[in-house]
Amino acid sequence: MTTAREAPDILSPDFAANPYPAYRIMLEDHPLIWHEPMNSYIISRYSDVARAFKEPVFTTDNYDWQLEPVHGKTILQLSGRDHAVRRALIAPAFRGQELQHRFLPVIERNAAELIDGFRERGTADLVTDFARHFPINVIVDMLGLDRTEHARFQRWYTSIIAFLGNLSQDPDITADGLRTRAELAEYMIPVIQRRRGDLGDDLLSQLCAAEVDGVRMSDEDIKAFVSLLLAAGGETTDKAIASIFKNLLEHPEQLRAVRENRALIPKAFAETLRYSPPVHMIMRQPAEDVELSGGVVPAGSTLTCLIGAANRDPRRYAHPDAFDIFRDDLPTETAFSAAAQHVSFALGRHFCVGALLAKTEVEVGVNQLLDAMPDLELLDGFTPSEQGVFTRGPASLPVRFSVRRAERTPV
Ligand code: HEM
Repeated sequence: MTTAREAPDILSPDFAANPYPAYRIMLEDHPLIWHEPMNSYIISRYSDVARAFKEPVFTTDNYDWQLEPVHGKTILQLSGRDHAVRRALIAPAFRGQELQHRFLPVIERNAAELIDGFRERGTADLVTDFARHFPINVIVDMLGLDRTEHARFQRWYTSIIAFLGNLSQDPDITADGLRTRAELAEYMIPVIQRRRGDLGDDLLSQLCAAEVDGVRMSDEDIKAFVSLLLAAGGETTDKAIASIFKNLLEHPEQLRAVRENRALIPKAFAETLRYSPPVHMIMRQPAEDVELSGGVVPAGSTLTCLIGAANRDPRRYAHPDAFDIFRDDLPTETAFSAAAQHVSFALGRHFCVGALLAKTEVEVGVNQLLDAMPDLELLDGFTPSEQGVFTRGPASLPVRFSVRRAERTPV
């Protein structure tokens, strides 16, 4: 085991600017690091991170301090039957028939509305004009919440994500997160109570009515879940859409291939998840002492699992630092399921419940954007860069394109 002094420091400005060289050093020489200021062990190798996600001995008790103060209790903190029952209440909305028939039109409408805002301009910033708004607009509409409140929801999820990724325990970030919890509760609880008396065809009504094994969700459960959905489904998919475009724009021959064959979008998304994951790290708390590469992690300690490093482990992938949508060591068929060969949605029982929703949003968004701007390219002289340590993605992605009129079916 190494101490943070000997290994690259994940709280340093160099790491924030570009974590990938540090990941390479950790993967090679420091598979287990004790980081005193974060009070956490850090692991990077694929085999160790995959074990931490899959084996129940690695509990999610860390979320008691990392998430509960902002969300309340969510399924992320639960385990065993409690978790399985709660997950079964919400999972159907995010897959299969529900997703395809009920929510696909919501996703398509929201993508088109945002693109209408810039399709005749000839320039756009794919982050600030599209990616930042699209997933949150979709979730707000899925839940049947007030569309005029998008900006407020966005501010709340930004605050929640900052709380979750507050690695240096900045007191202002903590205070803002706690304020957000109070504001969200004050807004949501009356909405939930009204919805119980007037159920509709939306996800919030479904959560109010859902019952599995005699268990129903309380107002507080639903409020906590909405809070989790805003953060888990907003920030992540925002970064994913921006990153897929960044990666493709930086590899014009792969962009051309995707533009000409849209069936390649899931491949490009899977490789984007591996190469530039929206969430770079997730924590766990082992219930017993566990032996991992480089030493033993004691029971009760915090373990930081570096998703961004594991996805570039050379023991797992050929040329891990190359973005290649045609690579043969990342099967697309499993990339959006718990059998995935990357760790960007985690693995095991907490595997991202919204993975198929994210895939649908990315497919619809990328398809519509490529239709509206078939010759898009980065604005002259602009070199995109990533931002963020806990979650990460391009801060800005200005592009230009020839203007095409929207093709509307006559009514
Ligand atoms: C590219 C987009 C996404 C990424 C990279 C992502 C990533 C993750 C990760 C890493 C976890 C596991 C957390 C842990 O085990 O500690 C997770 C869980 C979760 N995600 Fe996502 N997510 C994405 C999109 C979404 C969407 C669109 C939603 C729903 C609107 C969503 C809802 C959830 C929920 C509810 C959980 C908790 C599942 C459980 O505890 O059983 N995510 N996600």
